[in-house]
Amino acid sequence: MAPQSNSYLINPQVSLSISLSISPSIYLDKTCYLCKGCGIASKNKFMFGHVSMKIKLISGDSAGTVTAFYLSSETDTIRDELDFEFLGNRSGQPYTVQTNVYAHGKGDREQRVNLWFDPSADYHTYSILWNHHHVVFFVDAVPVRVYKNNEQKGVPYPNSQPMGIYSTVWNADDWATRGGLEKIDWSKAPFYAYYKDFDIEACEEAIPSWLSSCSKTSSNWWDTPSYQQLDPVQNRLYRWVRLNHMVYDYCTDRSRFAVQPPECLAGI
Ligand SMILES: *[C@@H]1O[C@H](CO)[C@@H](O)[C@H](O)[C@H]1NC(C)=O
Repeated sequence: MAPQSNSYLINPQVSLSISLSISPSIYLDKTCYLCKGCGIASKNKFMFGHVSMKIKLISGDSAGTVTAFYLSSETDTIRDELDFEFLGNRSGQPYTVQTNVYAHGKGDREQRVNLWFDPSADYHTYSILWNHHHVVFFVDAVPVRVYKNNEQKGVPYPNSQPMGIYSTVWNADDWATRGGLEKIDWSKAPFYAYYKDFDIEACEEAIPSWLSSCSKTSSNWWDTPSYQQLDPVQNRLYRWVRLNHMVYDYCTDRSRFAVQPPECLAGI
């Protein structure tokens, strides 16, 4: 499907430059000192599908910046959201990829992995599979996060609202790098992230939504049996990531959650 991006501003005082070509770039510059950031968004919302994007992250000193690629229902209190957040770092230090899942308004499900390559040296594919059975975050072909539909065990799952597709670059130097210790070095601005090859294969919500059948359809390719769970190769890769590259998992953070969240007990 052709990219359907249009520009939007998180903060209207910010200057924003994106091209509407197939390969836009987004940047954060000094005029953004007091703002949050800027980005691109899909015009339409979708329910279930597979979304992928090739991104070349900010190179050099990216400490304090966060480049995000996410799906969101944009419905504040009952928000569903699937986040990829790339946390910048000082030159030469590794990027961290944070994923998070919001379901029915509740997030706080962060996991972090360090990448096994330099994501600013070249384009890599970041994709999200979202179907009735699970949500899987992929880096190239490697699953780095799985969030299963455990609704029957009382775990909320994002399956009642369509989501739009967004990507932003923002100033998050109050938390992103070494917990906020490393600030953005504005002398290195502007900070560019590059994008290409958007691929959206998803069920587009009709307006008004009662005309839509996305939530009821389970015959699309992304819901067929081979996409309902990881295959053996993906399982092996996923275990490899968790053993060798995972640096944070909210499921094991007892300082935040004295009682383990139910989805953690339901199995990954
Ligand atoms: C940045 O680099 C430091 C030092 O290698 C590392 O401890 C940290 O986890 C890296 N990532 C972030 C997001 O702080």
